Amino acid sequence: GRTITLLGLESSCDDTAAAVVRDGPGGPATLSSVVRGQAALHAGFGGVVPELAARAHAEVLDHCVEAALEEAGVALADVDGIAVTAGPGLIGGVLSGVMCAKGLAAATGLPLIGVNHLAGHALTPRLTDGLAFPYLMLLVSGGHCQLLTVEAHDRFRRLGGTIDDAPGEAFDKGARLLGLPQPGGPAIEAAAQGGDAERFAFPRPLLDRPDCDLSFSGLKTALLRARDALVAGQGGLTGRDQADLAASFQAAIRDVLAEKTRRAIRVYLETNPPRPALAVAGGVAANGPIRAALTALCAEAGVAFVAPPPALCTDNAAMIAWAGLERLRAGQTDDMTLAARPRWPL
Ligand code: KG4
Ligand code: ZN
Repeated sequence: GRTITLLGLESSCDDTAAAVVRDGPGGPATLSSVVRGQAALHAGFGGVVPELAARAHAEVLDHCVEAALEEAGVALADVDGIAVTAGPGLIGGVLSGVMCAKGLAAATGLPLIGVNHLAGHALTPRLTDGLAFPYLMLLVSGGHCQLLTVEAHDRFRRLGGTIDDAPGEAFDKGARLLGLPQPGGPAIEAAAQGGDAERFAFPRPLLDRPDCDLSFSGLKTALLRARDALVAGQGGLTGRDQADLAASFQAAIRDVLAEKTRRAIRVYLETNPPRPALAVAGGVAANGPIRAALTALCAEAGVAFVAPPPALCTDNAAMIAWAGLERLRAGQTDDMTLAARPRWPL
């Protein structure tokens, strides 16, 4: 097909991002992906402060766009469309991105393409690995936890998801309980090195139910109790305790994700996909033991395991540009009435 180049913008949570992707005879390529985090801005508040995030997005979006175009060696005039996350997410941030994209579209006359942030994550393995539909997707981040089949760029079937916390949220809260830094996932993974994952028998919630739904909030409570029991008994946590608690907690999350994914694979395979594949997205997909468990699961089931590079698993704008490119190719564009949506299920 013809070569298409898209600029993408992302500002739905605490990262401001812009990227340029291209699809052509040589296959898809990420020409640039610029991400400006806001971690320092929100440090000390115990979470993302929506008002601060929205203002910071508005301030740095233009600069991200300039940097992404420059890094890609592409002029705005050579782009075929402007894709932007239109939801779901923190409404102030989403609005900042949508307004910036509308400004660029109005100034250039280029098509404006609103993208669902979750669709961006879910379509990433097509950008990075050229994955064909239908594939199974495990989306595990700080805000999301879903198992879905991706049947087309605009057709998703949800097989299950969390009924309470997302696993990244559990890692982050768990790290706080153990006195470890944020983001909690990498901190717990590091602290768990050499820890005894069997010392604490943390629950594996919902495994008694046959569906693909998951739960992580009880795990956090179990970690709190185990920690408090140790503190009450001996006045504090030793390094050994911290490692064992982290390892046991991480193993519980790994087991729940692996078992529910195993069930999702079974449901997915019933549809006889020609080239069965499981792809992951979201920050939690960077976790070594979780990746190892999923890899083993896929090998056993005869399903390809596809893990995009970590920088494209976490929030970025290349995934938004790519999802926009797929929409544009299908003739799906938006106009100046494009709205920012705080909630927008796939
Ligand atoms: O996808 P992401 O960058 O942002 C969104 O939530 O949208 O995911 C961030 C989450 C955080 O909760 C972080 O603790 C978790 O991903 N995370 C990890 C690891 N690296 C990041 N969790 C477990 N193990 C990791 N190595
Ligand atoms: Zn995300």
